[in-house]
Amino acid sequence: MEEILSKYKTTAEGDVKVWFKAASIHDFTENGGACVKYKDKQIAVFNYKRKNAWYACQNVCPHKMEMVLSRGMLGDYQGIPKIACPMHKKTFSLETGENLNGDLEAIATYPVKVEDDFVFIGFSE
Ligand code: FES
Repeated sequence: MEEILSKYKTTAEGDVKVWFKAASIHDFTENGGACVKYKDKQIAVFNYKRKNAWYACQNVCPHKMEMVLSRGMLGDYQGIPKIACPMHKKTFSLETGENLNGDLEAIATYPVKVEDDFVFIGFSE
């Protein structure tokens, strides 16, 4: 289990070495998520239209190690954008990755930028 999670490391914008061109903005539903593959990682990318923001995080939920977070429900917890896992509703901050309704390990989050209608995700390697 740890082996899967060890692939995913929160990346600050200042640590980005590769801006991975993920897909056109039109490939993402509004207020929904999609899964993107980068190397051996599955990354959940969210078009949070209500907040006019994009977010990316690991697709694997640390609760039962299911690759499902891209199919979760977007929400807001006291101003913090969050994703609720579709399996058992554990919720995570899309800014810090913190588990907001439990004590699970934080999920990894990644910077996102949009240029010329394409979505880029930032990785440190
Ligand atoms: S697998 Fe995500 S909450 Fe259980």
